[in-house]
Amino acid sequence: MKLPNYEEAKSRTKVDIVYKDVNIKYEEVFKNKKYFLRTYGCQMNVHDSEEISNYLIMLGMSKTEVLKDADVILLNTCAIRENAHDKVIGFLGRCKHVKKLNKDLIIIIMGCMAAQEDVVKEFQDKHKYIDIIIGPNNIYDLPKLLLERQKGQNIEVHSNSDIVPENVKYHRDSKISAWVNVMYGCDKFCTYCIVPYTRGRERSRKKEAILKECKCLIENGYQEITLLGQNVNAYGNDLYSDYNFASLLEDIAKLGIPRLRFVTSHPWNFTDKMIDVIAKYDNIMPYIHLPIQSGSNNILRKMNRRYTKEEYLNLVDKIRKKIPKAAITTDIIVGFPGETKEDFKETIDVVNCCKFDGAYTFIFSKRKGTPAALLKDDTPLEEKEKRLATLNELVNRYSKENNKRLLGKMVPVLIMGVSEKDNTKMYGYTDTFKLVNVAFDKAFIGKIIAVKIIDAKSFSLDGKLT
Ligand code: 5AD
Ligand code: SF4
Repeated sequence: MKLPNYEEAKSRTKVDIVYKDVNIKYEEVFKNKKYFLRTYGCQMNVHDSEEISNYLIMLGMSKTEVLKDADVILLNTCAIRENAHDKVIGFLGRCKHVKKLNKDLIIIIMGCMAAQEDVVKEFQDKHKYIDIIIGPNNIYDLPKLLLERQKGQNIEVHSNSDIVPENVKYHRDSKISAWVNVMYGCDKFCTYCIVPYTRGRERSRKKEAILKECKCLIENGYQEITLLGQNVNAYGNDLYSDYNFASLLEDIAKLGIPRLRFVTSHPWNFTDKMIDVIAKYDNIMPYIHLPIQSGSNNILRKMNRRYTKEEYLNLVDKIRKKIPKAAITTDIIVGFPGETKEDFKETIDVVNCCKFDGAYTFIFSKRKGTPAALLKDDTPLEEKEKRLATLNELVNRYSKENNKRLLGKMVPVLIMGVSEKDNTKMYGYTDTFKLVNVAFDKAFIGKIIAVKIIDAKSFSLDGKLT
């Protein structure tokens, strides 16, 4: 048992990273059993759930969408903001009820909440019906712990961030677009963020292993690869002196995948070489998610973001000059402790300047254990909500304006599948990662086709096959 420990996480003692082959064969001990898996949070979690599913299927289980039919319930949780936490706690109440009806039910907490020191303690003390707690760095322990649980062991907690799992197998949700982890963890320690504690230190996968995985995906007909990392463009810094994210992007682009994407970039690690590589290769998509978080230098400093507003604007300028087609989206937090009306106005000014294609906006959420949780925060919630509404209105206006520029144009769209909202339509994404809906035609699913844009809203486009 290894419990999460924030002091240890902060000190980042340099023990060697272990590259561990986790491709172990397990017998179908859970044949005819069913699992219910719910995923909260970011793309990283969605991809982690593809790994989780693979282990469960290997053990002989099949998936159910009906909670009370499940023999194993797994919640792949998110800790980034309080509302994500609250959703999980709410759902756990339902799981507890199901366990009253089925004593053999196994309940497993995974994801970032499973690596929060205080939350894990609370689970152990007050939620004794939970059987297993596995942090996001130890997913590969799932089959072993499930087998041990079968033999009657009690709550098991696993949390360790000195390991890079290799040879991981996934039960991928899509046959068209695949996620590929290039690195784990984050060393940035933005003062509001829990991720460096829950996901641990930055650990890059070896380039050979990443290239091998990408090659295999291409051979299996994948049209798109999205490279994943909490801080994807810090790739290689912990491992190589002469190989970095720009080198990796270039090497994967050369393999010939039709579409290559990456999330999430930190402005501080965004090099000129990266911009050159993205501009050079047609199969690296002109879409960059570049969180700014705030437009005020005062707040950026308190957030420990390592760049100023001017440096961010300069970077956006360089990207726009070298990759004129690029769509740029961002993340913004309003109501960080001590954010004044003037600070907020500077954020608005930056949005007016960058005219982002989209932005994910959040009200600051206090995360226990982070430095920002200790700062004096005297802005009333109503004021923060007002700022968020003002910001959202502006952000949506620019999204729509940018989208409108595509009206009447032919754009390349990778068709992903049937639209969830309307089964007479299918949906796909432009090279700039804009959602497009078109009339259904099965023949085009999984293909990149030219679509004429006939309507533009804030969050999607309507297209016509010509
Ligand atoms: N409160 C509000 N938003 C947060 N984010 C991260 N931590 C917090 C927090 N404590 C946001 C940041 C980040 C995105 C994934 O979530 O904008 O980029
Ligand atoms: Fe959190 Fe900052 Fe790391 Fe992003 S870069 S995961 S916001 S600490």
